Amino acid sequence: MTDISSYLRKINSTAKKDREESLTTVLTFLEDKDVYLDTEEMRRIKSFVLIADTPETRKLHESMTTTVDKYLFELVKNLRIDEKELLEASCFYEQVSKVLEKQGLEAKTIIDLCAGNCLAGALWILNGAEMVYFVDKTDSNNSKKVRKQLDLNEYNTKYNYDNVDIFDEKIRTYFENAQKEKGIIVSIHACGSLSDRIIELSIKYHVPFAVVPCCQGREIDDVLRTSGYTVEDAQFHSRYFEDISGYSDLMRINYAIEQGYKIILRALPREITDKNRIMIGIPDLSSYSS
Ligand SMILES: C[S@@+](CC[C@H](N)C(=O)[O-])C[C@H]1O[C@@H](n2cnc3c(N)ncnc32)[C@H](O)[C@@H]1O
Repeated sequence: MTDISSYLRKINSTAKKDREESLTTVLTFLEDKDVYLDTEEMRRIKSFVLIADTPETRKLHESMTTTVDKYLFELVKNLRIDEKELLEASCFYEQVSKVLEKQGLEAKTIIDLCAGNCLAGALWILNGAEMVYFVDKTDSNNSKKVRKQLDLNEYNTKYNYDNVDIFDEKIRTYFENAQKEKGIIVSIHACGSLSDRIIELSIKYHVPFAVVPCCQGREIDDVLRTSGYTVEDAQFHSRYFEDISGYSDLMRINYAIEQGYKIILRALPREITDKNRIMIGIPDLSSYSS
């Protein structure tokens, strides 16, 4: 951080050359960082960028600020969907697709579970995925509106929508297809044990997943855990976490790791949602890509 601080100060220099050099260095420094993670380091950089005002700090600010995906904005601009929902989905898409790309995974087929308003899957369609399967227990007005826009823009062959309860055995068809088609499971705000069900089936069918859990603590008995963790452990240790959510997710993470998965964590900006932990699970790729 000492090094980057001196470069940050230079971004405010009167010499253009210094400012540009500083911008390049700070952008490179941020490349492998999670800019939405609420750490002291990120807060320091953001507050510095907000105070200074040069073309370079504005560029830096842009790179650290989430915006609604341009294709999504065009698609839904007249639908009056809450901006928070659009930002949340856009940021999720941005974070997850970056990780998948780095892991060498092509997101041609996406299974958007507990899809709600269908924004996450829509982002993959708009950005070139071949096929998206939306699944939710119930339909909603926003979902219908988003799908109608997809149809009007001739994306109707790029998706399939289905109402299935995730605890119904029929859901396995989607995981079987994901396995065959090298699909990726995604789900934003899968409440309580919905996240566990998604992670457990993804692992069973050996497919990558990206899940944002929420309502942790609800159905705590059903949280996936390794042999080393009990619910009592969770209740005891969670006193030292901000809330039960951290500990529930830690149990899920340990479970996935014990099952041979690599877990990569990313964040959504806290200003958008405080249920902001993205858990990305990658199976052993040697068998996945065969
Ligand atoms: C908090 S919402 C999140 C929706 C969406 N992913 C989003 O980001 O807006 C949870 C979604 O899970 C769906 N859901 C709840 N229980 C379910 C179940 N048992 N099977 C499938 N979907 C379920 C709800 O209908 C709702 O759309």
